[in-house]
Amino acid sequence: MNPESAAEVDLQQIRDLDKAHVWHPFLNHSGLDENPLDMIVRGEGCTVTDGEGKEFLDAMAGLWCVNIGYGRKEVAEAVYRQLLELPYYPLSKITLPAARLASKLADILPGNIERIWFVNSGSEAVDTAIKIARSWGRRNGGRYKIIARYQGYHGGNIGGASLTGQTARRVPFEPLMPGVIHVQAPYFFRSGASSETELAERLAEELDAVIRYESPGTVAAFIAEPIIGGGGVILPPADYLKKMREVCTRHGVLLILDEVITGFGRTGELFASDLYGVKPDIMTMAKGLSSGYLPIGATAVTDDVFQVMNGEGDTGFMQINTYGGHPASCAAALKNLEIMLDEDMPQNARRVGEGLGTALKKLKDIPCVGDVRGVGLLWGIELVDEGGDPLPGEETAQVVSYVKNEGVLIGKSSGIAEGPSNTLTIAPPLILTEEQAARVATAIEVGLTKFQAGG
Ligand SMILES: Cc1ncc(COP(=O)(O)O)c(C=O)c1O
Repeated sequence: MNPESAAEVDLQQIRDLDKAHVWHPFLNHSGLDENPLDMIVRGEGCTVTDGEGKEFLDAMAGLWCVNIGYGRKEVAEAVYRQLLELPYYPLSKITLPAARLASKLADILPGNIERIWFVNSGSEAVDTAIKIARSWGRRNGGRYKIIARYQGYHGGNIGGASLTGQTARRVPFEPLMPGVIHVQAPYFFRSGASSETELAERLAEELDAVIRYESPGTVAAFIAEPIIGGGGVILPPADYLKKMREVCTRHGVLLILDEVITGFGRTGELFASDLYGVKPDIMTMAKGLSSGYLPIGATAVTDDVFQVMNGEGDTGFMQINTYGGHPASCAAALKNLEIMLDEDMPQNARRVGEGLGTALKKLKDIPCVGDVRGVGLLWGIELVDEGGDPLPGEETAQVVSYVKNEGVLIGKSSGIAEGPSNTLTIAPPLILTEEQAARVATAIEVGLTKFQAGG
C-alpha cells in the first residue's frame, strides 16, 4: 500500500495542518471548530470515504464534475504513461495528446464547432471566450459588449465574475469588467409567466430590445449556461435557447454556450446544445471533460469565428496559457471520453435520471418543497417557507446535513437576487445505478421530512 495512504497517516495531524493553512471556499473559518469540515480520503464509483472510514454516496460528483465516477485506473494509467513519455510542452508546438483530443472533441461537439483552445478550468475557458469574442468583435466593426444573465454563473476569474449574475458572487469584487449587461434568466418558477412559451417569448423580446438599445454594432456576444447550474438548477423553456439564438443571429451577435456543467453527458445528451437543438458559435467546457481527474478546460469555436482571426496579416489570437493543452491533462481527458462513450454514460444518465426525477417530483407534496426541476442527472429542489419565500440558507443547510446523515452528499445553491442558498442540488456521477438513485431520493425524502417535523 502507498505509505502515504490515508489509513496510515495521523488524520488529526492533517486536520491541524489544514486548519492552520488551507483557505476554503465560501467559508468563514472562525466557525470551523463548531462545524468541522469533512475529510474525504478515497473514492470508488459513486462512493467517497471520509477520514473515519464512513462511506457516502456522492450525489454531487465532487463539484458537478466526476462524470465517469471515481477510481477508474485506466485514466491514472494513461496519465502515468504520458508523464513518462512527455510531461510537458507548450502549444506553441504540436503535441500528440492535444492534437488527438482536439480532433475527438471536434467529432462530438455540436454544429460546426471544430477549433479548440485548451485551458485548465471552466473559469479560464470563459475568460478566453470573452477575449475571443472581443478579438472577433474588433475585426467586426468594434463590437465588444457581452450580454449575460442574472442568476447565471461563469467562473471565478474577473471576466467570469463580471458575467456572473449572482449578486453574492459579483458585488464583493466590484467594480468589474466594463461592457457587460445582464438580462433576466428563464426562471419560470418565480416569473409570473402563464406558460413556458410565454416566458421564452418575453425573454427573447427582452434580449432583442437590449441589443437594439445598446446598438447592435457594439454587442459582441450573448452568453448563457444552457441550464443554470450553480444558480439553482434552472431549466429553460424548451424553445428558449432557439429563440435566443435567432435574436443573436438577427443582430450578428455571437452565441456563447457555457457547458461547463451541462457538457459531457450530464443532461442525458452529450451536450445540452444537442438537448435543446441549438448551435452555439463558441462553447466553453471543463468539469466532465476529464471528470476532474486532472484540470482541463477548453473554449471551442466554429470555423467562421476562427477564420476571422486568420486573415492576411492578422496576428491570430493573442493569448498563451502555459498549461493549456497539458499533455497529461489531455491524456486524462481522452481516456475519460473513451470510457464515457464506450459505456454510453449519457444514455445511463437519461435512463436513471428519469427514474430519479420521478421519485424527486413526488417530494412536491412536502410543504417546504416549492419546485423540483431537472433533466438527466442534474436536479434541483427549491425550498420555500410557509409564505412561499425562499427558505433561509441555514435551514436549507440543515436539510443537507440530515441527508448526509442518511449517507448521501448533496449540495445547495441559488442565484436569486440577495437570496439565500435555498435549492438542493443533485448531480451524481453518470454511472449511478437505479438502486443508488432510489437511495438518493429516499435520503432526501427522509431529510426533508425530518426538517418539516422540526428536526
Ligand atoms: C457554468 C460554469 N462556468 C464556469 C465555471 C467555472 O469553472 P471552474 O470552477 O473550473 O473554474 C463553473 C464552475 O462551476 C460553471 O458551473
